[in-house]
Amino acid sequence: MHNKLILGIETSCDETAAAIVADGARILSNAVLSQVPVHQIYGGVVPELASREHLRGIVPLVRQALERAQVTLDDVDAIAATYGPGLVGALLVGLTYAKALALASGKPLISVNHLEGHIHAVLLEARNLGRPEPELPAATLVVSGGHTNLYEVQRQGAGLSYRTLGRTRDDAAGEAFDKVAKLLGLGYPGGPLIDKLAPFGREDAVTFTRTKMKGNPLDFSFSGIKTAVLRYIQTHGMEERIEARQRAMKGIEKPSIEVWRQHCDQETLDLIASFQRAVVNDLVDKTLQAAEDIDAATIFISGGVAANSRLRREFEGRSAEKGIQVFAPSLALCTDNAAMIAAAAYPKLLTREFAGAETPAFAQLPL
Ligand code: KG4
Ligand code: ZN
Repeated sequence: MHNKLILGIETSCDETAAAIVADGARILSNAVLSQVPVHQIYGGVVPELASREHLRGIVPLVRQALERAQVTLDDVDAIAATYGPGLVGALLVGLTYAKALALASGKPLISVNHLEGHIHAVLLEARNLGRPEPELPAATLVVSGGHTNLYEVQRQGAGLSYRTLGRTRDDAAGEAFDKVAKLLGLGYPGGPLIDKLAPFGREDAVTFTRTKMKGNPLDFSFSGIKTAVLRYIQTHGMEERIEARQRAMKGIEKPSIEVWRQHCDQETLDLIASFQRAVVNDLVDKTLQAAEDIDAATIFISGGVAANSRLRREFEGRSAEKGIQVFAPSLALCTDNAAMIAAAAYPKLLTREFAGAETPAFAQLPL
């Protein structure tokens, strides 16, 4: 039997991505075009600009994915695209292009939930590196700019099943990173920058009280900590320093971390480090609790925030204490990509779970 090749397409937010994955296991190509430079000046993703950039990028990106994998569209067995959750205008670019390719080539179309993609990234990483398959059930944290969800992931037939254990009631963790970075006059996206600046600050300098969750104790809330950072800035008279930093950084193209650090006083670095620790501890505590509740064999973490080095370190230390193994994809598979979409589509190809030409895009799409 020849390898089953899937062309994956992902355009749910600010990354245009296309990839070829064989048998849901081997990444033949994984092309990503980031729109960060386009949205940077606005300090956040502008939906209309995202759609326009996807339109510009999608055709060359798919061509690049095919070329790098040294295959043609004829060799592909199915075309998979993200159909939600995400920005509808952005999703429609990838989904509509996938439909057109499917129609023109006579190949089946598979629609994939973006969150399912992030979860499959964990298995794809192991398979692609020829490592043993992680055991299930897994307590799984999907944590990104748009989502903070805890799931119980089980095997079901050729694929996986998902049960929601907790979710954010307001902001996603990545959103909190980005908003706090913006409040402090740091660049966009804030997550990676906070990650790199935090080691220069003292984590115990500022104490943040964790929001008590009524109802489900595994739910999250990150709007409170964002407000607490704002209040700290105001009560400690940091506004002028923030404005000065914004003015100074405007004139510097692609500043290095060293330059960012030079423009941050110790109080700012301490605030960054303390904020990061508070968010990381909350994420790790609840994921470990979820693992205990469901008697999980493993823990999976995925999504953009799972790229955070402090989070990965904390998970490794704390899970070793508990004797449970944590699986996190490499950075390129943590943040948005299309290889994870092609991998999530593979079980659907095996069970011939195909999507029709009428398949819509959804802003909200629970697993
Ligand atoms: O998964 P992703 O690429 O897109 C969404 O589906 O949202 O995640 C992007 C988010 C952004 O909020 C970004 O700030 C955050 O992930 N992020 C990080 C790090 N790298 C990306 N947050 C903290 N530390 C990082 N190293
Ligand atoms: Zn994502």
